[in-house]
Amino acid sequence: MSAGVFGSLFLYTFLSHFNHGSFLRFRAASAWEAVDTNIPSVNLDIRTIVFSSSLIALAASILIIVFNKKANSNKYMKFFIDTANLAHIKEAHELGILDGVTTNPSLMAKEGISGQENVVRHYQAICGITDGDVSAEVIATTYEEMVIEGEALAKLHERIVVKVPMIKDGLRAIKYFSSKGIKTNCTLVFSAGQALLAAKAGATYVSPFIGRLDDVSTDGMTLIEDIRTIYDNYGYTTQILAASARHPMHIVNCAKVGADVVTAPLAPIVALLKHPLTDNGLAQFLADHAKAAGK
Ligand code: E4P
Repeated sequence: MSAGVFGSLFLYTFLSHFNHGSFLRFRAASAWEAVDTNIPSVNLDIRTIVFSSSLIALAASILIIVFNKKANSNKYMKFFIDTANLAHIKEAHELGILDGVTTNPSLMAKEGISGQENVVRHYQAICGITDGDVSAEVIATTYEEMVIEGEALAKLHERIVVKVPMIKDGLRAIKYFSSKGIKTNCTLVFSAGQALLAAKAGATYVSPFIGRLDDVSTDGMTLIEDIRTIYDNYGYTTQILAASARHPMHIVNCAKVGADVVTAPLAPIVALLKHPLTDNGLAQFLADHAKAAGK
C-alpha cells in the first residue's frame, strides 16, 4: 500500500517536473515569486528536492516490500510435541521435525512424574533431547507463588518456558516474567479476549486449546483465525501456539490459518506422513523392481 502512495507521489512529482504548467510548479513558483521573483533557480530546487525525496521514498518502500516477502517466505510453522513421554520426544526429534515440547501437569502425571526432584530431573532430560523450547507448567495459582515457582523452573534450563494459566494472577505473573526476560506460555486459552490479554501482558506464546473447544461443539480453528487477525492488526509478537491438537487435520488447518506453532501428541504428527497411495505405490515399485531383477 505504501508503495502505491509513494508511487503516485513519484508519478505526480515526475510529471510536475517536466510539465511546466503543472499545479506543483504553479504552487512552488507562486510561493517563491511572492517573496522574490528574481530567484528563478529556487523553483527548480524545490521541485528537485521533492522529486529526489519521492524517488528515495519509492525505492525504500520497494525494498521494504521485498524484504517483508523474504522474511515471510522464511517463516514456517513450528512443530512441538505435546507429551512428557521421553521415548515419544526422542522419536519426534529423530524424525528431524521437532521444534519444541509442551507439557502440562496431567501429562507429567501420566508418566508417573511427581516430587520436586523427579520433576526437575524430567525437565532436564527433556531439554537434553530437544533443541527447542520446553514448556513447564506452574502448579501454583497465586501471583506470589507463581513467581517463585516460575523463576525456579526458568533457572533449570535456558530453553524452559514457564507455562502459566490464564487467570488474574497468571496474567500478572506473565507481565512480571516478561519484564524479567523469562519466556512464558499462557495456557488454557479459550477466547480471543484471553489471547489479547496474554499478548498485552507480553506472553511469548499463547496456547488456545482447539481440541477442547471442538469437544464442546465450538470451532477451535475459528479461534486460531481470530487471534491471528487480532495479533496481525497490531503487530503483537506473542506466538500463537495451537494446543490440544488431536488429529492430523488439526495440524494442517493450523498451518492454513497461520498458527506460529502447533503442539500435538506423537500419533497425529506421525499420521501426517501416512497415505494409502504412498504405501501402495511403494509396494508396486518394489514388486516391479524385484520382478525385473528376476527375484
Ligand atoms: C498443551 O499445551 C496443552 O496442555 C495440551 O495441548 C492439552 O491437550 P488436551 O486437550 O488433548 O489435553
